[in-house]
Amino acid sequence: MDLLHPIKLKNFTIPCNIMAAPLAGYTSLATRNAYRSNGSHTHQSYLCFAEMVSAEGLYYSFDKSAALLATNEADKPLGIQIFGATKDKIERAFEKIKDYPFDVIDLNCGCSIKKVLKSFSGAYLLKSPDEIYRILSYLVSATDKPVTLKIRAGYNREHINYLEVLSAAESAGAQMITLHPRTCMQLFTGKADWAMIADMKSHAHIPVIGNGDLFSADDAAAMMTQTGCDGVMLARGLIDDPFMMEQVRCRFTGEEYIEPTLDERVAAMLSHLRGFIDEFGELPGLREFRKFTKGYLKGLPDIAKLRYALNFAETYNEFKHLIDEFICSVG
Ligand SMILES: Cc1cc2nc3c(=O)[nH]c(=O)nc-3n(C[C@H](O)[C@H](O)[C@H](O)COP(=O)(O)O)c2cc1C
Repeated sequence: MDLLHPIKLKNFTIPCNIMAAPLAGYTSLATRNAYRSNGSHTHQSYLCFAEMVSAEGLYYSFDKSAALLATNEADKPLGIQIFGATKDKIERAFEKIKDYPFDVIDLNCGCSIKKVLKSFSGAYLLKSPDEIYRILSYLVSATDKPVTLKIRAGYNREHINYLEVLSAAESAGAQMITLHPRTCMQLFTGKADWAMIADMKSHAHIPVIGNGDLFSADDAAAMMTQTGCDGVMLARGLIDDPFMMEQVRCRFTGEEYIEPTLDERVAAMLSHLRGFIDEFGELPGLREFRKFTKGYLKGLPDIAKLRYALNFAETYNEFKHLIDEFICSVG
């Protein structure tokens, strides 16, 4: 069975059911475009989400927060994600960004980091499906673009309420829901309980996207078949392996996945780095990029020394020189 297919929403068709999750600190413009092209000969039209952006931040320090939404023409389809505590806070922030060129707007009801929970946002909202309903109803009334939400299973083990939240979301007019089946209190411990995704799918009238513990193409295919979900959203798996989108695409279509050669890996890494430098400037771009080198160099022999040295590169040319030396030494 071909697991790859578009997802038709009321007013927008997502071309492909493999998506890149919002990942704070990772999914800036350069990363989204890298994920769409890594390992593939053509730029693929995966829906990629920008890092979550704070409603309070957009309201009080617009330029800093809006920088997280930087985009360009290749960055399509683009999902943006907002977090905030109440409908009023989301409303005054969304008024400022509703004309941005995004394709999907997602409400974050899944983030479990302390700073976000302290602001009564992210997964804290799961405590109040009524507020989720109000926020989503507002967003649906404020834009023609599809409004979606990303949730965890519930706030804690005693309050698993994903079906109640699904129902609030559907009533409000949300067009798609992503479930990371852990509770907020669970953070990243234990295992994502995919049976909850299957349960949600059996109740849902809108597409359900499965998320949680997808670390390989086989995991993604297994989630599709075990849960019947409409699509998958990759997260930490992509940080570990920046070629994972293409692997999953091949797994879904039955095409053979051809591992990138060392030269292809290096070319993809340098192109990703170039994007960071274009976005942030040379030194800040190099610094921001450090956390990606592990994924690109994964599986190569003796990379610890190289990765250590790359941390001290202060220009693109220095970075490239260290890589060139490494390739000569292994080649
Ligand atoms: C570094 C990092 C940043 C994240 N940032 C966001 C975010 O901005 N918005 C969001 O909804 N989830 C965020 N998440 C959660 C992921 O999108 C995803 O739901 C979670 O990692 C589960 O998927 P996985 O087990 O495949 O990693 C983040 C996770 C990580 C590890």
